[in-house]
Amino acid sequence: MKFIYAFVTIIFLAVIGVGGFVYSGIYPIGADVAHSDVEYWLLENLRDNSIDRSSSEIKVPPLESAELLLAGGPDYKDMCSGCHLKPGKKQSDMSIGLYPTPPNLSERDHGDKHQDDDAQQQARRQFWVIKHGIKASGMPAWGATHDDQRIWAMVAFLQKLPDLSAEQYQVLTASDVIEH
Ligand code: HEC
Repeated sequence: MKFIYAFVTIIFLAVIGVGGFVYSGIYPIGADVAHSDVEYWLLENLRDNSIDRSSSEIKVPPLESAELLLAGGPDYKDMCSGCHLKPGKKQSDMSIGLYPTPPNLSERDHGDKHQDDDAQQQARRQFWVIKHGIKASGMPAWGATHDDQRIWAMVAFLQKLPDLSAEQYQVLTASDVIEH
């Protein structure tokens, strides 16, 4: 009986504590204050495990075709490069101001622990993230306005992007290469 009493008291105090914290307004919500190590660990694992689980059944189509690459390039330039940068560009107002920082997808080593996954697994995760976005991060869900074929074209482009020179990038992203 004593044990149940203590347990209920602890739960009660925890609810009061969390509620008080939320209502007090003391949490620093500004994007210019970094997460604590604990918050960072929690959010990173929450995000990674969710993406892994949701993307595990996705079937990856062949991504090697030149048409896909040429369709993905102009879309990347228009919709993604402002945040995710391009060969020869290391920073933008978005990449500096957003928190979490959008990874520089033109670099193979962009600090993602999944970058050593095999290409299929990477493609699954990228497709899922592009289609569904990531809550409270600035990464939009493009699936609301773009069909799967167009998203796979961007995945195909992302796989080549780290190997492109600034000149090759310019050629592959020129929007008059292909009509949408
Ligand atoms: C307004 C800024 C913004 C735009 C525009 C944007 N993203 Fe993102 N993206 C982000 C942020 C921020 C993250 C990191 C989210 C996180 O770490 O939780 C992200 C994450 C990603 C990731 C996961 C990267 C990894 O290695 O874990 C992929 C892939 C991605 N974006 C692709 C794209 C593509 C393709 C486009 C264009 C269609 C795009 N993004 C447009 C902000 C943006």
